[in-house]
Amino acid sequence: MSTPQTYIPTIELNDGRSIPQLGFGTFQVPPADTEKVVSDAIEAGYRHLDTAQMYGNEEGVGRAVAASGIPREEFWITTKLNNTFHERTAAREATERSLEALGGRIDLYLVHWPLAMHDDVARVWEAMEEVRSDLAVDSIGVSNFTEANLARLAEAGLSTPTVNQIESNPYFVNDELRAACVERGIAVEAWSPLAQGSVFGDPQLTALAEQVGRTVSQVVLRWVLQRGDIVFPKSSSPARMQENLALFDFELTDEQMASVSALHNGTRSGPDPDVFDWRG
Ligand SMILES: NC(=O)c1ccc[n+]([C@@H]2O[C@H](COP(=O)([O-])OP(=O)(O)OC[C@H]3O[C@@H](n4cnc5c(N)ncnc54)[C@H](OP(=O)(O)O)[C@@H]3O)[C@@H](O)[C@H]2O)c1
Repeated sequence: MSTPQTYIPTIELNDGRSIPQLGFGTFQVPPADTEKVVSDAIEAGYRHLDTAQMYGNEEGVGRAVAASGIPREEFWITTKLNNTFHERTAAREATERSLEALGGRIDLYLVHWPLAMHDDVARVWEAMEEVRSDLAVDSIGVSNFTEANLARLAEAGLSTPTVNQIESNPYFVNDELRAACVERGIAVEAWSPLAQGSVFGDPQLTALAEQVGRTVSQVVLRWVLQRGDIVFPKSSSPARMQENLALFDFELTDEQMASVSALHNGTRSGPDPDVFDWRG
């Protein structure tokens, strides 16, 4: 496959590894369509792919990567430990299945949800540290961890996660938790950056996009990047995949950045980690 060489900056994680700041998300990409959609994303120029055991589409991601003919080491693949596998042995077996699906290596492996109402998050983090030392898992991190969950890991004397993947978009900026992550040296990954499509049709974002001469999607994704977060929008359309990559030849002013942040109204696109209780 011949693909464009898109310039993507990297962010250095607290374990010394560098992650591409922009990638491609696969939540709600149906398993049967995943190989085709991810192949289109690779063709568009994406090399950072975000999947999860919960999405049921890791095999499709792995097949698209293998079919691309591009060396596996040119990709950054993130996947996530499912809620049903927090216990040590189950975590190891789930990791082995993910490794098999994703070409034998996981670049970044996250605890998908803390489920702190059931478990001590320190126990699942110990299981993550174990798979990182024993299996082909390079970096480990968390997702949807609250400040209290992060504090619990530190209090238990465990390692600091490399990233916390949390909801962040113009309607739910999540700035307090973002700041708490930065303070602990944890990189922030912003999920549902486009609020799962709710940003489209927003009159203020439409006006700003017109002012900048870009699309609403590009303005919002650029806002996420300029805040220093890592981001991986999802799209099923090759044209929109390309649109979402074209973010490195313009900048938002401080005033424009502030006008996007001012859209915050506390509306989440996804579940609140303090009450999300799905265990399949
Ligand atoms: N850790 C977690 O708990 C968690 C939770 C949610 C998401 N995530 C991760 O974050 C990724 C991104 O979040 P998300 O998938 O929820 O939503 P999102 O990226 O915020 O939004 C995706 C939606 O926006 C549309 N879209 C994308 N680009 C567009 C464009 N340029 N113009 C118009 N519409 C556009 C897509 O439609 P089309 O497909 O039709 O283009 C889709 O409906 C996920 O895929 C997943 O990897 C993680």
